[in-house]
Amino acid sequence: MPECLICGSSVEEFMSFGQMPIANAFLNQEEFSSEFFFELRIGFCSRCAMLQLTELVDREKLFHESYAYFSSISLRMEAHFKQFAESVMKTKLDSADPFVLEIGSNDGIMLRHFADRGIRHLGVEPSENVARAAMEKGVNTTCRFFDKDLASEIRSEYGQADAILAANVMCHIPYLHSVADAVASLMKPDGVFIFEDPYLGDIVEKTAYDQIYDEHAFYFSVSSLSNLFGQYDLEIVNIEPQSVHGGSMRYTVARKGAVTAASSVARQKDREHSNGLRDLATFHQFKRNIETSRDDLLKILHREKEENRRIVGYGATSKSTTVLNYCGIDNRLIDFISDTTSTKQGKFSPGMHIPIRPYEEFVNDYPEYALLFAWNHGQEIMEKEKPYSAQGGRFIVYVPSVKIMA
Ligand code: SAH
Ligand code: TMP
Ligand code: ZN
Repeated sequence: MPECLICGSSVEEFMSFGQMPIANAFLNQEEFSSEFFFELRIGFCSRCAMLQLTELVDREKLFHESYAYFSSISLRMEAHFKQFAESVMKTKLDSADPFVLEIGSNDGIMLRHFADRGIRHLGVEPSENVARAAMEKGVNTTCRFFDKDLASEIRSEYGQADAILAANVMCHIPYLHSVADAVASLMKPDGVFIFEDPYLGDIVEKTAYDQIYDEHAFYFSVSSLSNLFGQYDLEIVNIEPQSVHGGSMRYTVARKGAVTAASSVARQKDREHSNGLRDLATFHQFKRNIETSRDDLLKILHREKEENRRIVGYGATSKSTTVLNYCGIDNRLIDFISDTTSTKQGKFSPGMHIPIRPYEEFVNDYPEYALLFAWNHGQEIMEKEKPYSAQGGRFIVYVPSVKIMA
């Protein structure tokens, strides 16, 4: 049995999604024959309650000079990170010359707010193309992977941080012990580490199995994270549920004893206990729900295709790679996937090789159905696509359940 990356105990591998390409590796036709595949497998550690991948892809294959995900593609995410930055500025930066560090700062979506106010900051971002976009916005960025060694370099150059921030990146880092250790040494005695990631409770409850892909080594709960931080004299002192990315949790971590933990932290742990998020049986049921979701989705797609309806994918998300490859949805079922990111347009989806087309192609010739891969931006999209719905267009969605929507 594989070993838990957090506590070393054995992990029960309860599901394989089969051979998978890299979720964000949108490719050209010439690259089809050399495409990289691995087996996407997932397991649960009953000892520390961490859900995790049991086969990992080298980080250099995932995060590099042509990383496909630019954070600033969504207006909603722009607004979300503006608010996040403002709440930090308001409550956590009382010292004379505060220093803010962000791990996985991407194109500067959050840090640019600190840069604009002249606050000392540093972004750590290993993917060169997105790091460059941040620097062009005036965001001080170092193009490296965050770990213990880099943390000590940062500490000697900048001193300790008032606030260390991270969004949708902690769950990407398999060597979390090094990160927790680095955070403990980089944070001022009364500093905070605030990070958010998709929340395990939402993933399980909504059968959002498309959150499972190569980059997401972990699926966090308050219970599993408390166990990790406890080993570094750190503790979770606050939690704030967020609606982004289909349901996320923001965690505030401080040195043990520095602040009194909010009662919501213990309450959430109790809730996780009663909701079965610490039980292996929950994950066996999760697997059955995933299989049902796949069967229900395929039934709709085949039925509508037999009626000669056109189906187009909406949003070439990294998450869609798991759905397309696990369900075996190819170009015979979906004409193309519409996406607003220019670097994805003209390429093909990983594994199933469905063409990615500019959004205008969707608008210029509305299909009968749009399969909503970007369901986490559903509200923003439904609002924007009123004209599509008004002329009879329908969305096929699969989270939290498979259905057709106007
Ligand atoms: N924080 C942004 C980006 C999330 S995508 C947002 O929420 O939208 C994850 C980012 O983390 C990518 O830009 C990736 O290059 C970066 N990343 C991956 N591993 C990392 C590591 N070990 N240290 C720092 N950044 C990392
Ligand atoms: P994400 O789910 O990982 O945030 O990625 C969203 C993808 O969906 C990204 O490639 C951009 C695309 N997208 C659209 O094409 N249209 C939209 O309206 C939105 C919000 C996203
Ligand atoms: Zn464990």
